[in-house]
Amino acid sequence: MPTWIDRLREEHTLPDEGYRELLTTTERETVETLFEAARTSALNTFGNKVFIRGLIEVSNYCRNNCLYCGIRRGNREVPRYRLSKEQILSCCAEGYAIGIRTFVLQGGEDNRQTTTWLADVVKAIKSAYPECAVTLSLGEKDEADYRALSDAGADRYLLRHETYDEEHYARLHPREMSGAHRKECLYVLKRAGFQTGTGVMVGSPGQTTEHLVQDLQFIRRLTPEMVGIGPFIPHHATPFRDEPGGSIDLTLRMIALCRLMLPAALIPATTALATLGGTDGRLRGIRCGANVVMPNLSPRENRANYELYDNKVHSHSESAQGLIELDAQLRTIGYTISLERGDHINFSNHKTS
Ligand code: 5AD
Repeated sequence: MPTWIDRLREEHTLPDEGYRELLTTTERETVETLFEAARTSALNTFGNKVFIRGLIEVSNYCRNNCLYCGIRRGNREVPRYRLSKEQILSCCAEGYAIGIRTFVLQGGEDNRQTTTWLADVVKAIKSAYPECAVTLSLGEKDEADYRALSDAGADRYLLRHETYDEEHYARLHPREMSGAHRKECLYVLKRAGFQTGTGVMVGSPGQTTEHLVQDLQFIRRLTPEMVGIGPFIPHHATPFRDEPGGSIDLTLRMIALCRLMLPAALIPATTALATLGGTDGRLRGIRCGANVVMPNLSPRENRANYELYDNKVHSHSESAQGLIELDAQLRTIGYTISLERGDHINFSNHKTS
């Protein structure tokens, strides 16, 4: 089986059989070899640097009713909020002050945050912080909307395909949504000039190894700049409340396989991984080839209401002290934070236990 790993390392692609075996093998040694190969790949491309992206959760209103998601339309328990332009800009200011140079605006599919309004917000961020990247994660839109947001200056867009298989997609989503449309959006995003991110939840209800194999083949064909992979975690106010959560080990295997397929991709150690696996979960993600962490910059009073799944961790890395702590954790495994330009916190001067 190590031959599959060698082949993936060299050719960045495998036949289904190779992915299947690497996802299911019970030989620990093989799994460790996979993780090590992915780690080495990331180290070769990025060194021991982990990129930081500031996440701003702009609205928890959502017109969709995805069966797994805590902010689904049908969840009447959650108080809804949407941030104003001023609030978003003040989140950016807070992030900028501690050295963050990429802002990720994520939200439910909220009709009231119109494209015109969003484009204005993007322009305001870009004019206040011309050297910063703006990433959007706002779901499915029409081509004209994606283009308008790209024209406004947004650089990147995250839209997980969630699962390649359309029947499986239909099991996770209400009738009015389709896997085909989701995937189409990704190609439209690319055409509109975005650096594009996709990804899946690992262990979503009904997911099989074959589904994951197809996800990997799709990710390889799409060749996104970013890939987000996290374990499914049940949320108490959704139809999947009693379903088991995804496996950390399988999530790590998926991260490692994506790293070897796409050596230059930006792959976060996701909050879902940190939620299931604690601090260790995040570090394990890094050691399997992830190279991005996304601290939360959302206003503190809204955070509890952006719960896509239960017990979502609320890290404090949005503060300077939090970033120093994150850096200290990363240093225990030989990594360090990269703020790209303008990093004016000198981490090596701060001692934290
Ligand atoms: N568990 C894990 N991840 C989830 N997401 C949504 N709900 C859950 C859940 N219950 C993920 C989806 C979405 C991303 C923003 O969060 O993959 O694309």
